[in-house]
Amino acid sequence: GVGLAAVGAAGAAFSLLTDAERNTAGAATNTATLTVPDLLEATTTDGTTTFTLAAQSGTSEVISGVTSSTAGYNQSYLGPTMKWTKGDTVLLNITNNLDDDTSVHFHGAHIPAEMDGGPQNAFAAGETWSPTFEILDEAKTLWYHPHALGTTAEQVVHGMAGMIIVEDGSDASAALPSEYGVDDIPLVLQCLASDTSGDIKYNLTGYLSGSLAYPVLCNGTNVDDTTLTFTATKTRTRFRVLNASPSDIITVQRGDGGTLTQIATEQGYLTSATEVSSIRLVAGGRAEFVMDLSDAVTLQAVVTTGWVRGGSGTYDFLTVTPDASDTPDDLPSTLNTIERYDTSSFTAREITLDQDGLEMAINGSVGTTMDSMATIMTTLGSSEIWTITNNTMLEHSFHLHDVPFQLIEINGEEPTGVDLGWFDTYEVVGGGSIKIAMQFTDFADDTYMYMLHCHLLQHEDEGMMAALMVMES
Ligand code: C2O
Ligand code: CU
Repeated sequence: GVGLAAVGAAGAAFSLLTDAERNTAGAATNTATLTVPDLLEATTTDGTTTFTLAAQSGTSEVISGVTSSTAGYNQSYLGPTMKWTKGDTVLLNITNNLDDDTSVHFHGAHIPAEMDGGPQNAFAAGETWSPTFEILDEAKTLWYHPHALGTTAEQVVHGMAGMIIVEDGSDASAALPSEYGVDDIPLVLQCLASDTSGDIKYNLTGYLSGSLAYPVLCNGTNVDDTTLTFTATKTRTRFRVLNASPSDIITVQRGDGGTLTQIATEQGYLTSATEVSSIRLVAGGRAEFVMDLSDAVTLQAVVTTGWVRGGSGTYDFLTVTPDASDTPDDLPSTLNTIERYDTSSFTAREITLDQDGLEMAINGSVGTTMDSMATIMTTLGSSEIWTITNNTMLEHSFHLHDVPFQLIEINGEEPTGVDLGWFDTYEVVGGGSIKIAMQFTDFADDTYMYMLHCHLLQHEDEGMMAALMVMES
């Protein structure tokens, strides 16, 4: 365990909400102002930007009126947002004030495996880990979270997650809203599960559907009974959405049925702004969209039951009210150039997502230890096309560390629309398959490995994880 029990939750028991009592479309009982995570301050000396983080436990009201044992970075729940700039060198001093090992993974960042905070980089209670690396990524929305072997779900569901905004000097970035907390707003959405004493669950095996509460949170506030409000002081507002849930798929949409203008998938800008009716995010997924507001609009999170049974529903989570008179410029017609890979000469590889009883596996190996997991060996500079086949009846996702991928096929179909963008995590439905293509650039290492795994955290901890070694060619 993380030692969270030592904190001692003094929570009053609550009774379970029925579906009818939930904050489903228009049934909000309370309103509260949206909390925006703090921007983590950094110091820059000799060309290195230094951030300081502490993993710590605490308490929080994940369920209104009930105190839960939680954990976060520099605070008792969630973590501050980090801003990285392409071309900068960053140094992070991260202290582990938990009672258990932890590691900090920079989900989606293209950095050396040794600096990437996978299971091989777990560090003990009381220790400080100080990775340093150059930011090679373009503008995008990443996140950081624990990734030690077997404890990822437990630590993440208790609140250990924070957003990373990568900035670059591109024309697209200059033309888009970027004032943090003013017209550039992070939304960390989570579907959790808790028993009536406020004990947050990370492994639901053995629980009956409906025996737990399933709070849905936005930036740490439970929107089960509360609609958050945000007053926009600029006509155009940019939202960065992160699905930090352990398992559930969240679809973001407007309550009035209008479209959202999506500008980025999780690995950067789309070719151009794209009108979408909704944005579907697997656990771990991110997206960015803008809204030009003239009237108030409510954003809804449609939770599709994945691992958290009983939490499905449509939640009004944020009402955005305009209070601005400026007229924004037209969005640039081109945000990014995405060269589609010609995969005809790419090296093909087969990856299977497998299950044997309660054991989860990749390519037949239950990856609960570094020794038991399948290890994929590739070489620096190689270009590959992977077919990921879900051999189970369950919903899974596929996440690859190190490099972004392009979707080549989704269940036999060619991708369209926003699926032509860059990804690092994508849904693989029960019995389905995806084909993805990627190029391994910049970092070879014969000691530290990158990970590939299902991002349903219980599955990852139960062994649906493999290692990737990028060797010098
Ligand atoms: Cu967000 Cu390997 O994980
Ligand atoms: Cu899975």
